[in-house]
Amino acid sequence: MAQRILILDFGGQYDQLIARRVRECGVYCEVWPCTADIGSIRSFRPKGLIFTGGPGSVYAPDAPDVDEGVFSLGVPILGICYGCQLLAHRLGGEVTPAQSDTAREYGKTETVFRTDSALFRELPEQSVTWMSHGDYMAHIPEGFRVIARSAACPNAAIADEERRFYGVQFHPEVRHTQFGTQMLRNFLFAVCGAAGDWSMESYRSRAVRELRQKIGGGRVLLALSGGVDSSVCAALLSEAVGRQLTCVFVDHGLLRQDEGDQVESAFAGRELDFIRVDASRRFLGRLQGVTEPEKKRKIIGEEFIRVFEEESRKLGTVDFLAQGTIYPDVIESGLGSAAVIKSHHNVGGLPDYVNFKEILEPLRLLFKDEVRQLGRELGLPEALVSRQPFPGPGLAIRVIGEVTEEKLRILRAADAIFRREMADAGLGAAASQYFAALTNMRSVGVMGDGRSYDYAVALRAVSTDDFMTADWVRLPYELLDRVSTRIVNEVPGVNRVLYDITSKPPSTVEYE
Ligand code: XMP
Repeated sequence: MAQRILILDFGGQYDQLIARRVRECGVYCEVWPCTADIGSIRSFRPKGLIFTGGPGSVYAPDAPDVDEGVFSLGVPILGICYGCQLLAHRLGGEVTPAQSDTAREYGKTETVFRTDSALFRELPEQSVTWMSHGDYMAHIPEGFRVIARSAACPNAAIADEERRFYGVQFHPEVRHTQFGTQMLRNFLFAVCGAAGDWSMESYRSRAVRELRQKIGGGRVLLALSGGVDSSVCAALLSEAVGRQLTCVFVDHGLLRQDEGDQVESAFAGRELDFIRVDASRRFLGRLQGVTEPEKKRKIIGEEFIRVFEEESRKLGTVDFLAQGTIYPDVIESGLGSAAVIKSHHNVGGLPDYVNFKEILEPLRLLFKDEVRQLGRELGLPEALVSRQPFPGPGLAIRVIGEVTEEKLRILRAADAIFRREMADAGLGAAASQYFAALTNMRSVGVMGDGRSYDYAVALRAVSTDDFMTADWVRLPYELLDRVSTRIVNEVPGVNRVLYDITSKPPSTVEYE
């Protein structure tokens, strides 16, 4: 892989975004800690370097820094925010804390650009950027010129075009920066000369080759949840090593309508050993009488491990345990820590219980949208690939109070209607996640000539980028009306439908 960009991480909140934007431009990149040594950086053979933002100040005693050698690699550098200040500081400029609130900038800022610079080529001379900095460059280093300014910041962007070093005080990776993506494209293509030919097709063939090499004749075990990550992981491994792969799919009986069958049929034609364990009785048995949300989660987690452990013991020794860890997990759990074994949300703690030699994480360098793309590339059905997030404990945390077969039946049917109507109305993409939950409230209604005393179903649809915060989606009344009418008419046991209009915070996405 000849064309790659290295992003050096100084602890900024938008680091993942930078990497995603670069990849969206068709350029492969990795995020490494800023402390990476020059030997490793050199052997990565980057076409360019990006220094990220960060919360620090270049003058702080423990200020994150970079190996001196990066400045003589002969490759272009783009410093963003803190990265820009570090560039200026290390090359002889002067960075100082803003003396007044007016020099400190936060938010959307009108900025004027020198469009004769390669970085701002073919962009308007004035547009909005997203600023978020306390320090600023009082003096720029020798050999640099100013290529952008704002009212509060006369040196909003600098360039040494000979050495191909660029620094921007603002954040081009954030959507609020009007032409941010074009600026990144200019850096990647006009400055670094990247080709932009990174694709899932090439990733797939390389990953398959590497997996074959690594696995040899060994046996691989994967806990398949039916979620996007583990499904794509399974499809990739099956392409690489076929029947050397065993997938254990624990059906805990808390899946949505027909979901277990859909997962099974998605893998039916593939070369792999697929074991579906119907453990629903076991899970429901252990959940009997349990109403406390955390207790439910704990029971499900423990039982999951127990079932998986029993199944894998039947297989004897396996050489590799595969996990669907993806790049955001890797970045969040400490960069460069290849040895860190992340206990994955759906299969928490598995590695401690299973007899295996090594962990495989073939998706650990991919973002979620790339994982979906790879899934399509591998021929997985769209329903599986574009699946919304679904929590490991499944419907158990969408049935408030005790989980029973009857309540699961009601919830499955109501949820299926809601999802169907959303899809038919073409609103699937309007929400990041949408589902029905079964409240434990029963109330009086009137059906035909009779009185009913039935459950209330709650509908939830949220939009979010990161699931840390979320807004409720303003769904059309007509759709809500149709869904409500259908649920009450078609699902026995329900006489009321509620739409959840709380955001996160103060609510959470799930109910328990
Ligand atoms: P909350 O309810 O915390 O949900 O606002 C945020 C996102 O996380 C998902 N979620 C889970 N995923 N195991 C999972 O794999 C869990 O125990 C779990 N709990 C919540 C939730 O569906 C939403 O996407």
